[in-house]
Amino acid sequence: MEKKWWQNMTGRSEAEAEAEAEAEAEAEAEAEAKTGLICPQCRESVVQLEALKCSSCDWEGEIVDGIPILLSKRGKSDPLLNRYTQIYDQIASDDMDDSILELDYVEMLAERTAKIVGDNLAGQKGCDIGSGKGLLLNALIKRGAEVTAVDIALPYLKRLKKKDETLECILANAEEMPFRERFDFVTCTDVMEHVLNVSNFLYCLNEAVKPGGLAVIRVPYRENLLGYSTYLGCSYDLVHLRSYTEELLRDSMVGAGFEIDAINYGGFSLSLHLPRSCDDKPEYAADITKIRKILQDRGISYSDLDDMPEWFAKQICRPYEITVSARKTHRIEIKEGAGFELVPV
Ligand SMILES: C[S@@+](CC[C@H](N)C(=O)[O-])C[C@H]1O[C@@H](n2cnc3c(N)ncnc32)[C@H](O)[C@@H]1O
Ligand SMILES: [Zn+2]
Repeated sequence: MEKKWWQNMTGRSEAEAEAEAEAEAEAEAEAEAKTGLICPQCRESVVQLEALKCSSCDWEGEIVDGIPILLSKRGKSDPLLNRYTQIYDQIASDDMDDSILELDYVEMLAERTAKIVGDNLAGQKGCDIGSGKGLLLNALIKRGAEVTAVDIALPYLKRLKKKDETLECILANAEEMPFRERFDFVTCTDVMEHVLNVSNFLYCLNEAVKPGGLAVIRVPYRENLLGYSTYLGCSYDLVHLRSYTEELLRDSMVGAGFEIDAINYGGFSLSLHLPRSCDDKPEYAADITKIRKILQDRGISYSDLDDMPEWFAKQICRPYEITVSARKTHRIEIKEGAGFELVPV
């Protein structure tokens, strides 16, 4: 039989070449399923943490102080993103010197959020985006999960890695997270109000979670953003850029392909503002202040308040945090031309 030109060149038949290409594609898909790490720049090709190179574009990562840096070229060179990263490096250093928030308050919030993810997380692979000092991360690990720490601030990640060599720590921007269906659950607490491009964050969040997997997102609830004005003494700009109501939070998640499991309110404090009911009905203020004083005198702590039924805590305190837990029900597919479609998983 006459040989085709490619057989002369490669010694292989068309069928053999096709089979080889198929096997290669399968191997790549298998590797992707295993690592779930994708190029932060083109989001096409699988990346191995050891190699940190993309086979589809010119992206190359690097390792700094033992931490893989998975930022796109734009993420590293865009002046706005650069400034953002610098601000968060600075905040991290300041926070590690002298905690910005009261530590037992943050610890209580972390415990509560971990509880929402589940009491027994053995065998589950999770990711904590914007892990900061790692309080939530520790609470999740304590419950048996294998957790990856992601943050944009190197100082925090270096500290986490120093404490536990075996912990997977990745420096990435939540707006270009390099994960595809890698995690059974993703947590992200007090971060979504910071990111510059919230739609890119939601897109990457959807991609990071396995079909049916859980996203637990906590954000400040109806916060007065004036507190972040540099005119009023806030030392950093580009910190809290937005705030959330329950409706907005629900809509954000449903719009990004998730189905809401639960909404929880938290961050109750007796020393901060009176509940919103007092804004509407100032005549309540005197009685509620009396009840708060009695509770304060009895030494009621953040976690005591948190253990109370939510409806009661809301009567005497203003919730500062809202948490949504939601399951991934849809993948986001880019439509040819323009736009996107949410496709059931
Ligand atoms: C307010 S702290 C919250 C820390 C922790 N999640 C907690 O609940 O205590 C915000 C964290 O998100 C990180 N962060 C802010 N913007 C980010 C981004 N675009 N990508 C990844 N991490 C980010 C910060 O460096 C910081 O660690
Ligand atoms: Zn690439």
